[in-house]
Amino acid sequence: MKQIPVSVLTLVAGLIVAISSIWVGQHHGLLPEQASVQATLVDPLFNAMVTIGFGLFVLVEGAIVIFAIQFRQRPGDETDGVPVEGNVPLEIFWTLIPAVIILGLSVYTVDVYSQMGGLGHRDKLMLAQSDSQVQWVADQFEDEAVDGDSTLGPYGLTGGDTPADLVVNVTGMQYAWLFDYPESGVYAGELHIPVNQEIQLQISAADVIHSFWVPEFRLKQDAIPGQPTELRFQAIKTGEYPIVCAELCGAYHGGMRSTVVVEEQDEFEAWLDENLFAQAQSDRVVAFNPETPVEAHAHDLGITPAVVSTLQHTHHDHS
Ligand code: CUA
Repeated sequence: MKQIPVSVLTLVAGLIVAISSIWVGQHHGLLPEQASVQATLVDPLFNAMVTIGFGLFVLVEGAIVIFAIQFRQRPGDETDGVPVEGNVPLEIFWTLIPAVIILGLSVYTVDVYSQMGGLGHRDKLMLAQSDSQVQWVADQFEDEAVDGDSTLGPYGLTGGDTPADLVVNVTGMQYAWLFDYPESGVYAGELHIPVNQEIQLQISAADVIHSFWVPEFRLKQDAIPGQPTELRFQAIKTGEYPIVCAELCGAYHGGMRSTVVVEEQDEFEAWLDENLFAQAQSDRVVAFNPETPVEAHAHDLGITPAVVSTLQHTHHDHS
């Protein structure tokens, strides 16, 4: 058989690895539905990492397999291996390439994080060490506001400086999420929000650290006792998505789940009205019958009877 030059083989193998990596990066199917504006920022970064990761995996594992076969010990071969003592160009090559990849991914990651509002105005001010730096941050912020190209965006891990369409207080506690709507006075055990609206979550924790995570939104924010956190986002698809606690918070951490229901504005308003009515009803019931076991238990946890009955109500709705 006529020998194909190694350079040609390497080129062909490299092309195949590159093309299949790009294909895998776009078709891995590992991510859930994109249900928020933020998801469209996060996913290309994740896909880029899968592309690079798959390519490296095939290269490294492929080299191991090929070398193990090609340079195996043949029968009767009792000689030592070739004494290889290092190869400076090769070492530069395999140091430089990962360095470039890591640098590129770092810059890309910080860019996405900043577009999501991770480097908010407040964070920049907190990092500022002197009056001149504070002034610099303030100037930057004004420039961004004028350009309309603010890295704060209307969305973010830190709340924007413009009021959101809807504010919801989120409280994490062992082992449930509680949602209350300060504008309407509704309490609920699941989060209902209107689609295509700017939502601001004010997140707190009643006992230990929890983490509010909605995979379909690609958003996660810690709930920390004594330190309020925020999340600003916009859902772009109606539907029901899981809310998961992503911080080990105790024995039943795995069961600390809820649901976010994204619905049309009129459906959302109907839900609010329904809950206001249910709460008014249950307040009356509790007033007549104050010594129910549920209420006594709730009292220990510092939950108002209204909250508990709303939880029971919403649960009943979906059973
Ligand atoms: Cu709350 Cu884990």
